[in-house]
Amino acid sequence: MERIRIRSGGELRLKGRVKISGSKNAVLPAIAASLLTREKIKLHNVPLVKDVHTILTLMNGLGAEYGLRRNSLTLQAEKILSAEASYELVRAMRASILVLGPMLARSGKAVVALPGGCAIGTRPIDLHMSGLQKLGASLTLEHGYITAAATRLQGADITFEKKTVGGTENIVMAACLARGETVLRNCAREPEVESLCRLLVKMGGRIDGIGEEVMRIRGVEELGGASHDIIPDRIEAGTFLVAGALSRGRIDLVDAEPGHLSTVIERLRFSGTRVEVKSNRIRVTGGDHILPQDITTSPYPGFPTDMQAQFMVLLTQAGGASIITETIFERRFSHVNELLRLGANIEVSGDKATVRGRTPLSGAEVMATDLRASASLVLAGLVASGETIVNDVEHLDRGYENIEEKLRGLGADIERIPA
Ligand code: EPZ
Repeated sequence: MERIRIRSGGELRLKGRVKISGSKNAVLPAIAASLLTREKIKLHNVPLVKDVHTILTLMNGLGAEYGLRRNSLTLQAEKILSAEASYELVRAMRASILVLGPMLARSGKAVVALPGGCAIGTRPIDLHMSGLQKLGASLTLEHGYITAAATRLQGADITFEKKTVGGTENIVMAACLARGETVLRNCAREPEVESLCRLLVKMGGRIDGIGEEVMRIRGVEELGGASHDIIPDRIEAGTFLVAGALSRGRIDLVDAEPGHLSTVIERLRFSGTRVEVKSNRIRVTGGDHILPQDITTSPYPGFPTDMQAQFMVLLTQAGGASIITETIFERRFSHVNELLRLGANIEVSGDKATVRGRTPLSGAEVMATDLRASASLVLAGLVASGETIVNDVEHLDRGYENIEEKLRGLGADIERIPA
């Protein structure tokens, strides 16, 4: 288990420019979508993160061939050899369930391990399953595996009980090859969902209402190949924006998409941080005083749950009390105990965390528990006086490409050390 060591005098001012990588949460469904056709899918601006390697291992097991050259990926599932996503892979990465819809639509059968819980909650897939059932699939659960079967999926009118990113993605992909029209209501509107739909249309899918809460999909007999650019990772970008605000520095983000971050930018400006936006660049300049504010996470375009842990670190440096309400996941405060070790003053009660600032942070050894929690610990280490060691950095590697190189390029004293 590798570790990351950060040394800081507490008054670090990050300065410089950082290139934002492609989005992990956009590339994973795009890779799964390649199962829908026997032709070639070409993806560019692919982030070289652990989750990409995990899903490529899964795709290989299903019979898809792929070639990865730097940040370009070519995939081809000429035939589906096996229809099983193993527990080992699903446990390693919940997003493995995104092969369920495409596999079922392409080959009429899919066997996927039921994902267990994880650090941020139980994360069931009942909404995925009920959507596929409405499309005519029969689902059975045995020995921890879901077996889905359907000779040919039939279009249906489906309303998601609650917004689900993965559920919307799975059902849209399946509906593209169903017979007849599917109407999906209460769809997730995250940019990653929108980008997947644009890829499916390039492949010959017929989808109206992309990016809206109601989408209409008219099924086609088969889909073809396409090439597609992966959108910038808005959560990586948000993480660097917080780093600039927190360190009272000035960072230029290039290859970012400001339009995907409007709520986060609005909240940063509210905290006294200067944020300038120009086409695919964002400049963040930290203010001397960080103002407290209450934050509630909600589905896009609301404040993203994936930015909650990072923003909490900023609020530990605000002059006053802030209340963070996490509405998406029931247990997404695992970073709090670790931040307390660094000297933060945070109290959790139910879905709310009260953060009192400003508290000077001091370096300590801490434990990462999930991807965004580990990012928040790195951020805290940048402004904690002394040495901070973040353990279990494989969580970080799941979703951030070369984060320590990028931070070192901005002036941080950060390096990876063997356990
Ligand atoms: C996606 O997860 C993202 N992952 C998550 O990012 C992100 O936090 C989440 O969306 C919310 O925005 C990927 O895109 C690969 P959901 P997903 O289905 O699709 C409940 C990161 O750090 N739910 O939108 O799994 C669920 O338990 C990761 O990059 C059901 O109840 O999230 C949660 O409370 C973390 N039944 C809520 O809905 C279901 O069938 C939202 O989940 C499905 C979900």
